[in-house]
Amino acid sequence: MPVAEDLRAPARERTLNPVTDGFGSSARAHEHRLLSAARPALPVLNWLGMFAKPLMKVPGLGWITADPLTARAVLNDPNHFTLLSEGGVGHLWAQILGPWVYELFDGPGHYDLRTRSRELFTEKTSAAFVEHAWHDRLEDARRTFEAGEPLDLADLSRILVGQMVVSLLGLPAGTSSSESTDDAYREIFRTGEELASTALGTTADTVLPPHKIARAREIVERLTGHIDLAFATASGDTIIGRCRELGLTLQETKGLSTLLMVAGTETAASAMARTAALLYDTGEQHRLIEHPEFMEGAVREALRVTSPAPIIGRSVLADLSIGGRELKAGERIVVLTWTANNLAGEYRVDRAYIPQNRQLWFGAGRHLCLGGPLARAELASIVGLLLGDGRPFRVVSRRYGRRVLIPAYESLVVQKV
Ligand code: HEM
Repeated sequence: MPVAEDLRAPARERTLNPVTDGFGSSARAHEHRLLSAARPALPVLNWLGMFAKPLMKVPGLGWITADPLTARAVLNDPNHFTLLSEGGVGHLWAQILGPWVYELFDGPGHYDLRTRSRELFTEKTSAAFVEHAWHDRLEDARRTFEAGEPLDLADLSRILVGQMVVSLLGLPAGTSSSESTDDAYREIFRTGEELASTALGTTADTVLPPHKIARAREIVERLTGHIDLAFATASGDTIIGRCRELGLTLQETKGLSTLLMVAGTETAASAMARTAALLYDTGEQHRLIEHPEFMEGAVREALRVTSPAPIIGRSVLADLSIGGRELKAGERIVVLTWTANNLAGEYRVDRAYIPQNRQLWFGAGRHLCLGGPLARAELASIVGLLLGDGRPFRVVSRRYGRRVLIPAYESLVVQKV
């Protein structure tokens, strides 16, 4: 269906500086407050990123870049950048999971693992995972929401993500009553959050103290201990079963499961509630109701503007010259994905794909997010929940999450108008 010209270039669109114009629009203002509530240093870092043309060295932190092309050049160059040395997330996980991480997270084993797990999350399997894990709970939420009850979407997102973990990893399910089942899923989410928070405060240093390592190992065992027994017989609609069918070993499956927990819980929940807030704050929900064919763009734009993983760290492996700067082996670089993605402008459900950014919100290169299709399917189902009946909603109240690794709403109550 052709897109009307006035929809492609709305009159109220103006070029915003994503950092300094933070309070130029309600949507931007809320995103800014959300980022600073999570980590007060984030807006400062994003602001500094505006001056990194294309790279800048920040004392105590290392190099930063918010230029999409430089960002992709860094993430696509495994000969000069690694996430395994100090400063990278691989180094962090090696201390918790063991030295095999060095082989599997970034070494030759990583390429092999990614090749074999390529089919784990396709558009089709992801839609099926969402349907399988969420159908009943979403229907419950839809019934009360469409009847006019308020809905805390941030809380629901955490429940749904917890439920996805249980479903994907084949963990023993919750109890029979829906209230206590929700609590069981909230608890799983919190556990994933605790594991990921191991990384809090490691922007400048990834050496973990022994007590953090011990606690993280306890959590990993709790979440993946069952895989030893389940591996041989797990069904194909769990990740464990799919991994086995795709030829992954038991150790690879356990490692990947841990990674899914850490990489795919807070990020996904953050995106869900923030998408709802963006649809309301920008008024874009009305255009989406009128033009449901913009659904794909609505989801892509939500991922771009929220960029739930706002920074990606790497270590320099070997000296190189990039963007007119000389980087030395052992230095660190932080890719500011939130800033890089937000330079393109405000949330627009009909904004065309931006070739220069591609899907930088999912990273790039060999570590490009494995769960991208699942995240998109999850977001599409949330937008469907919010607007599926063709009626708009409003945000009744909101609270930003404080001191969290991934910026997110603690609470976002929405209601049909
Ligand atoms: C909105 C949601 C999500 C966002 C914004 C996101 C973002 C990212 C980013 C930026 C990376 C690259 C990190 C780096 O290069 O250091 C990544 C990696 C990864 N993500 Fe996601 N992610 C999301 C959801 C998910 C989900 C739902 C899953 C699976 C359940 C998942 C699984 C992974 C895995 C396994 C990796 C590591 C890939 C590798 O190292 O080869 N992610 N994600």
